[in-house]
Amino acid sequence: MIKDSHIVLGITGSIAAYKGADLASKLTQGGAIVDVVMTKAACELIRPMTFKALTNRPIHTDMWDVAHEGISHIELAKAADAVLIAPASADFIAKLAYGLADDILSATVLATRSPIVIAPAMNVNMYENSITQENIQKLKDRGFIFIEPAEGHLACGDVGRGKLADVEDIIGEMHKIIGRSGPMAGKKVVVTAGGTREPIDSVRFISNLSSGKMGYAIAEAARDQGANVVLVTSSQIKCPAGIEPVHVQTALEMRDAVHKACKDADAIIMAAAVADYHLETPFKNKIKKKSATLDLNLVRTPDIIAEVKGDLVKIGFAAESEDINKNAKAKLKKKGLDLIVANDVTQDAWGFGSEYNKVTLIDPEGNVNEYPVMTKRKVADLILDWLTSSPKWVK
Ligand code: C5P
Repeated sequence: MIKDSHIVLGITGSIAAYKGADLASKLTQGGAIVDVVMTKAACELIRPMTFKALTNRPIHTDMWDVAHEGISHIELAKAADAVLIAPASADFIAKLAYGLADDILSATVLATRSPIVIAPAMNVNMYENSITQENIQKLKDRGFIFIEPAEGHLACGDVGRGKLADVEDIIGEMHKIIGRSGPMAGKKVVVTAGGTREPIDSVRFISNLSSGKMGYAIAEAARDQGANVVLVTSSQIKCPAGIEPVHVQTALEMRDAVHKACKDADAIIMAAAVADYHLETPFKNKIKKKSATLDLNLVRTPDIIAEVKGDLVKIGFAAESEDINKNAKAKLKKKGLDLIVANDVTQDAWGFGSEYNKVTLIDPEGNVNEYPVMTKRKVADLILDWLTSSPKWVK
C-alpha cells in the first residue's frame, strides 16, 4: 500500500515540471513519504521551496552539498520503495540509458534496486526521435517501467504525443507498483461495476441508478494490494490505471466478459447492478409515438454470478429496499455465493451515486456483520479483508 511507502520523486527539466508539484502533493496526501530530487534544469523551472512545502521534507538538488552528513544519493536509493521520474526529459532519459551518474538524481537511479518508473514529457519531435525511442527501449529492456505520454497541445505549440500522462494515472500506476508485494499479489480478481444498459430501440435503453463507484473502489483496492484486476464495467467512469478494463453495455455482454475473465480467476466480486429484464430483440429503428400506450415484452436476463462455476471465491451484492438481511440471505443461498454484501438503497446519503455506502456482510455460516456508513473505499477494504482471510482464498 502506498501509505507509509517511501517514494523518490525525480523532477527534470521539462516544462511539465510544475505538474510534479501536483504529484508530490497527492502522493504525500496518500500517506507516502516523498523525497523530491531535482536536476539543475528542473530548479530553473520550479523552485525547490514549492516541493519542500508540499512534502514537508528536505529537497535534494546537489550531490556536492557539504552540509549533508551522509551520502545522499545512496541513502535515497536504499530507502526508496520506488523511484518515480515525472516529468522525465529526453536528456535525462538519454543519461539513464547510458548509465551516467553525474548529478544526484541520475546517481540515485543507478544506485537503487527499487522499481524505477519513468513518465516522459517533451516536444513531440524529441519524443518520436529515433534516438529517444532507442533510449526508451533500452531502458524498458532493463526493466524500467514507462508511463506513456499523452497526445495533445504541447507547451511549444505543437500537437502530438509528449504531454505528461495524467497525474491520476501516474498515481494509479504507483499504487500498483508499490502494491506488487501486497497480500493479493499473484491473484486474479474479476470485478464488475455499473448498471447495465438494455436497449429498447436504436436510441433508447433501460438502465438503473448505479454509478459504478462501488465496483471501481473495489477494483482500486484490489490493485493496491497487488492483485491483477479485470474490471468488467458498464459505467462511464474512466478505468483507473493499472487495471484491465473490459467495457460492456448489456447484461448479455457482461455475462460473456465475466465468464471469459473468470476462467483463471481467484475471485469474482459482482458489484454491478445487472438489469433483471431486457428486450430479447430490441427495435431496430427509433420507435414512433403513434399510439397512446406502448407495451414492451421484457424477458429475464441470465443470473451471471449464479452461472459462474469453479473453485473461485464468489462475492455478490444485494441492493435492497426492504427486509434487507432476509432477502440478502436468500440470494446468498440461491446464487451459491461465499459472501453477500447487503446494502440499503432507500437513503440518498449513501448507496447509488454517493461516495458512501452502508453495508452488512453475510456469509453462508450465518455470520452477519453490520457496519456504519463509510466511504466506498473503506467498504472495499472491508470486503477484501474478508476475502483474503477466507479459507477458500488462503488454501
Ligand atoms: O439483482 P440481484 O439482487 O439478484 O443481484 C444480486 C447479485 O447478483 C449482485 O451481485 C448482482 O451483480 C448479481 N446479478 C447477476 N446477474 C443478474 C442479476 C444480478 O450476476 N442477472
